[in-house]
Amino acid sequence: MKRAVAIAALLLSVTRVGAADLAAGAAKAAACTACHGKDGVSQMAGAPSLAGQPDGFLQWQLVYFRSGTRKDAVMQPMAASLSDDDVRNLAAHFAAQKPPPRGANGNVDPAMLSVGQRIAQANRCASCHKDDYASEKAAARIGGQREDYLLKSLRDFKSGARTGGGVAAMPDAVYRLGDDELRALAHFMAHAP
Ligand code: HEC
Ligand code: HEC
Repeated sequence: MKRAVAIAALLLSVTRVGAADLAAGAAKAAACTACHGKDGVSQMAGAPSLAGQPDGFLQWQLVYFRSGTRKDAVMQPMAASLSDDDVRNLAAHFAAQKPPPRGANGNVDPAMLSVGQRIAQANRCASCHKDDYASEKAAARIGGQREDYLLKSLRDFKSGARTGGGVAAMPDAVYRLGDDELRALAHFMAHAP
């Protein structure tokens, strides 16, 4: 019940145009850069880049961590003390940063890339994540994200470790796929042109 109220309140705030305070978001983001990188481009294994993620996606993930519906030993305590204004301001700040440059993810394995591309097409990943995998609204930007993090998230959706808002979109997208296919997808998304 508490969660339903929190989410309803957030929904209202998501639709409140112009409410975010970018300067406050930038100040608050100083607490995030140790792991998520300067300007939100991560150099740290296991920590995702936040730069250029859709504002809505970032707000939701922070609310999921704060409410505990998304589990992570590092992020749950980080999010616990954030107010709704902090969530809005931080999300607006990172959404406005320049996304990681494509091709910044190390070496490409052309064979794995084309396998990953085929699996992405067969599973219609672009129907939600858009043709350039930059996504919008509640879906994550996956094009150019760290490969290690992409693989971890796909495995977490498949195992049920990550449920977030309880939306079935991602568990449905990956439940039929084997680990080799998840690895090829992560490689393709990390290097997607
Ligand atoms: C000590 C390291 C650390 C700090 C500091 C930190 N994070 Fe994180 N963050 C992580 C890790 C690790 C993950 C990946 C969690 C997982 O594997 O599910 C993460 C995940 C996230 C995600 C989910 C992104 C996605 O693509 O799924 C968001 C949003 C986020 N952090 C925002 C923040 C914000 C905002 C701050 C500052 C207030 C912050 N983090 C501070 C380590 C950190
Ligand atoms: C029906 C819409 C839909 C389809 C199809 C879909 N996704 Fe997603 N995806 C989402 C949404 C929504 C989220 C955010 C999930 C959440 O909030 O927990 C997401 C999140 C992700 C994430 C987590 C990224 C992060 O930064 O946390 C990855 C990786 C991902 N999708 C990859 C894929 C791949 C690969 C495919 C194709 C096999 C795919 N998605 C198909 C909607 C979709």
